[in-house]
Amino acid sequence: MSDIGKFVEERLSALKKRPITAATEAGLERSYLRDLIVGKKQTIRADMIEKVAEAIGATPQQLIALQSGEAPARFAEAAVAGRSPVDGKRVLLIIGGGIAAYKCLDLIRRLRERGAAVRPVMTRAAAEFVTPLSVGALAADRVFSELFDREDEQDVGHIRLARETDLIVVAPATADLMAKMAAGLANDLASAILLAAGAPVLIAPAMNPHMWTHPATRRSRETLKSDGIHFIGPNAGEMAESGEAGVGRMAEPLEIVVAAETLLDTTPRPLTGKRIVVTSGPTHEPIDPVRYIANRSSGKQGHAIAAALARLGADVRLVSGPVTIADPAGVTVTHVETARQMKDAAEALLPADAAIFAAAVADWRAATEADEKMKKEGGKGPSSLPLTENPDILAGIGNHQKLRPRLVIGFAAETDKLIEHGTAKLKRKGADYIVANDVSPDSGIGGSGVMGGDRNRITLLSSEGAEEWPEMSKDEVAARLAALVAERLA
Ligand code: CTP
Repeated sequence: MSDIGKFVEERLSALKKRPITAATEAGLERSYLRDLIVGKKQTIRADMIEKVAEAIGATPQQLIALQSGEAPARFAEAAVAGRSPVDGKRVLLIIGGGIAAYKCLDLIRRLRERGAAVRPVMTRAAAEFVTPLSVGALAADRVFSELFDREDEQDVGHIRLARETDLIVVAPATADLMAKMAAGLANDLASAILLAAGAPVLIAPAMNPHMWTHPATRRSRETLKSDGIHFIGPNAGEMAESGEAGVGRMAEPLEIVVAAETLLDTTPRPLTGKRIVVTSGPTHEPIDPVRYIANRSSGKQGHAIAAALARLGADVRLVSGPVTIADPAGVTVTHVETARQMKDAAEALLPADAAIFAAAVADWRAATEADEKMKKEGGKGPSSLPLTENPDILAGIGNHQKLRPRLVIGFAAETDKLIEHGTAKLKRKGADYIVANDVSPDSGIGGSGVMGGDRNRITLLSSEGAEEWPEMSKDEVAARLAALVAERLA
């Protein structure tokens, strides 16, 4: 089991066994602590971090890694083990003059928590929004701001600042700073550093939406992108100016951290160049224009698998039924509604190196779809709803004469005789593996069971037999399956 898996298991059992004095004194509920441990998004007041960490027997860094559900699992995992990709790296943070500059204080804290050394540079305008004193205190370094400061130039110098760093982050990147960068100006310390930069540059633009969409900013954007500058954000939302909304809000500190981690990440990508098709979520089978047949699948497991494969470098094509969760990062998604649409979409994505069928496809659809809403007709509903069977997408691709991927993995949702039914599906559907799970409400998993929940306990079936995995989060199941795929396709 990976570090985070072990860590989570240990913390959960510790939580069950021991009296959590610090937490109960502080009025914290066990369910709240449990959610924190399993990585569900929860906020912790800054002044409570130490207490909560102590309550679950973790360090504040580990707690923050667990709690920052926005960060992909691999980063939480790395941070728990003390190995964020920014750990030990030098980050030069250029703070531009915009209202979003206040978020830099949090950004500095989060980068430092993950082990980065942050060297701050502020433009003159930035000092109108945050004080060099607080920036310097949080960074535990001096703040550089003047190009012609005799002391700074003798001591470090702008060229050394530009060269002796692993990553340059510009946050907030104002329209002015972006225009200067695009034009190659160097008339202040920030722009001079950016012109002399050797390390990758990540910018987090922040400005009024009108400035962002102005043709001049568009030109800067295009130039910077073709110069290889990396962007994070801006996001859409309310502006600091009252009544203004649109695209222009600076990305949140954690999003910037994740982007920095991605740039500095040197994890091997064993699935680079491999195309993998994944199906996920339920299907909706229309009965009439307002009604449909569906099931309780949330898509969490399938989406987590797609994300985990993408993290290993695969070109992931996800075919998703109707779900309420976000598209996974770095994955190309086709959204469908019915089983027949899912089948067409999945088949159109072949040939592929592997295919994973995590979708809970509706087995049946209404034999005929009514064009008009079906009426009760004098108090009597239709005595029966004739159904017809949907095509089996997995069986079609698993037994395909010409286009069968090298590796085919299906799921089996069972409420009884897990191994027997799962093994039958393995053979019938032409799969190499069947991920069998007990979806009965009394499976003992979480409050809501496997379907819709965040945890899973699976049995992996193959021609070699059955392998039981302990209960773990769906992200952890996904990471393990992705590792298996990488091994099989190697
Ligand atoms: N599957 C599919 N197309 C279908 C039905 C199922 O691709 N029309 C896939 C699922 O994505 C899953 C596997 O087949 O990978 C098994 O799904 P499951 O619902 O457990 O099995 P069924 O074949 O529907 O069998 P039963 O409902 O009888 O258990």
